[in-house]
Amino acid sequence: MNTERFYISTPIYYPSDRLHIGHAYTTVVADSLARWHKFAGRKVLFVTGSDEHGQKIERIAKAKGVQPQEYVDAIVSTFKQLWKRLNVEYDDFVRTTEPRHHKAVQTVFQKIYEKGDIYKSTYKGWYCTPCETFWVETKLQDGNCPDCGRPVELVEEESYFFKISKYADRLLKHIEENPDFIRPESRRNEMVSFVKSGLEDLCVSRTTFDWGIPVPIDERHVIYVWFDALTNYLTAAGYPDDHARLAEWWPADVHLVGKEIMRFHTIIWPIILMALDLPLPKTVFGHGWLLFDNDKMSKSKGNVVDPNLLIDEFGVDPIRYFLMREVSFGQDGNFSRRALIERTNADLANDLGNLLNRSLAMLNKYFNGVVPEPKDATDLDREFVQSVGGLGAELDSLLKDLHLNEALAKIWQLIGRANKYIDQRAPWALAKDEASQGELATVMYNLVETLRIVALLVTPFLPETGAKIWAQLGISESLTEQTLADTEFGRLKPATVTKKGDPIFPRIELKVDEPEGEEAQPAAEAKKTAVSQAPAAPAAEAQSEDGLITIDDFFKCELVVAEVLEAEPVKGADRLLKLQIDVGDGRRQIVAGIAKHYKPEELVGRRIIVVKNLKPAKLRGELSQGMLLAASTPDGKLELVSVSANMPAGSRVK
Ligand code: MSP
Repeated sequence: MNTERFYISTPIYYPSDRLHIGHAYTTVVADSLARWHKFAGRKVLFVTGSDEHGQKIERIAKAKGVQPQEYVDAIVSTFKQLWKRLNVEYDDFVRTTEPRHHKAVQTVFQKIYEKGDIYKSTYKGWYCTPCETFWVETKLQDGNCPDCGRPVELVEEESYFFKISKYADRLLKHIEENPDFIRPESRRNEMVSFVKSGLEDLCVSRTTFDWGIPVPIDERHVIYVWFDALTNYLTAAGYPDDHARLAEWWPADVHLVGKEIMRFHTIIWPIILMALDLPLPKTVFGHGWLLFDNDKMSKSKGNVVDPNLLIDEFGVDPIRYFLMREVSFGQDGNFSRRALIERTNADLANDLGNLLNRSLAMLNKYFNGVVPEPKDATDLDREFVQSVGGLGAELDSLLKDLHLNEALAKIWQLIGRANKYIDQRAPWALAKDEASQGELATVMYNLVETLRIVALLVTPFLPETGAKIWAQLGISESLTEQTLADTEFGRLKPATVTKKGDPIFPRIELKVDEPEGEEAQPAAEAKKTAVSQAPAAPAAEAQSEDGLITIDDFFKCELVVAEVLEAEPVKGADRLLKLQIDVGDGRRQIVAGIAKHYKPEELVGRRIIVVKNLKPAKLRGELSQGMLLAASTPDGKLELVSVSANMPAGSRVK
């Protein structure tokens, strides 16, 4: 029996509004990792929750004319409903208004105060209420919050201060000696420079509002909301009274957080723990943001995507899959409806759905749906079996190290390999030859066995999909009782009676009245009828050879006509031009290496072709949101691909 422990947390979310797809991103990733570790036989504590105190919440409740508690209760219940819909199975949900948390926070404060690391003084400075963050004047940007860009307020009040500067050297040493403490590496470097630039003692209490946990030694003050919130990770581990639970679960293995709150988790939080003489979490992983149209999602910009509407339209697993596969873990990623549909069609409907469909269809045809005993095997069969077995252990080591995208890519490589195996072994040809019946049995066994292993491997990420495949395979053992050891090749029992069902991922067709080049709409604004579901294309018995792409692959690339509105050189880069272009539904900037071939004035008014859905990049500090197409000869002659002025900007090239 594996006695390893794994404690993973998400941030606890502010109930200042309903959650959007960005919040769902962190939670779905944490849920999948937690499910994986459970599957691998570890004892897991997966914690999420709600950060309910603070000035922001108090003001919102007041504006709505309700008591803060009444206000947060209603919103927090929508959090829990969303997690349920997304199949997020947390082990604990910490609400900061719960008595157990209240006690933990007051104990932490009291202990640090008794140690002499908290003292009373007066705070005069700036405060960003949306971020609940104190700022010194020199850090402001154009007088606004450097994190969110919103206005800050000048506050002057008596406060308790935490001597965090005292711990700076110890923290730097810890970061240096524990390379896994802050990940990914780029964020570690950022945090180290932040600490080295000098830490100010932190204001840890407020007196100008009441909605918080009182300072135990001075009830006129409420504890600063971040001090309160960070402590939730200890609350869930049983702090301060449940010593056995604490010994079992602390320190946490992974705090998964968005990059904007790394500072709190890698500077303030470890210093609180140092002051308490408690060990530090093993890893704080700062993931990137999910952008919408390459812009941060925010209510004020009106571009938040409501996960509930997406679930209504697409189901849960396409969304879970998209979030984990499309976004490179640690970096920013873009959400778009089109990308979601294309991912679903390519990876889920085509690759996985068709593998299941065509395998079980052939099993029905050649063996009445009953798994045969494997018989004659060729080298290719043996090589295929080898590539399937052992993947479970490989994924476990990738996931222990938080290599989420690589792990999913490996599963899809296996699915691709299995589809290719069908083409290589052509069961339809074996079936025609009496002498090949033994080989046919082996090939069909290998395929169904691979599907069984794929079902096990995808379940932590896509629980509904795993269950659907499992049901079609007709295996009598319960899926929930399966473990990593069951991913060993050969455990499928011959004579299992499969139950082929409908395609598990019907292809999603873009409706004819939906402009093909249209950028994704926030789901809240998207037409409910924008997509329709059509049955999966019949499984082709022979698929494309290696190296060839499908039409779906091609359509991942959104090529459109763009009109050049302005063009100018990029300072300090003699090969680059900066173009402002109209792509039909708005203007954007691209940077192109064409300065040696075109003068800026030659470009204005031209209609060129651009890749519209390319990940934005910065070139010499200039944002480039797309790439233009040009042909070039080996000797360096370059000519832009363009169309006549009759083609309106935004027209799709296909
Ligand atoms: N209450 C604090 C966290 C306290 S933890 C001790 C807070 N709450 S929040 O509601 O604003 O949630 C922030 C978290 O939501 C981010 O750190 C991130 O995990 C997630 N995200 C919110 N928007 C996001 C995106 N657009 N993209 C990815 N994650 C995002 O900060």
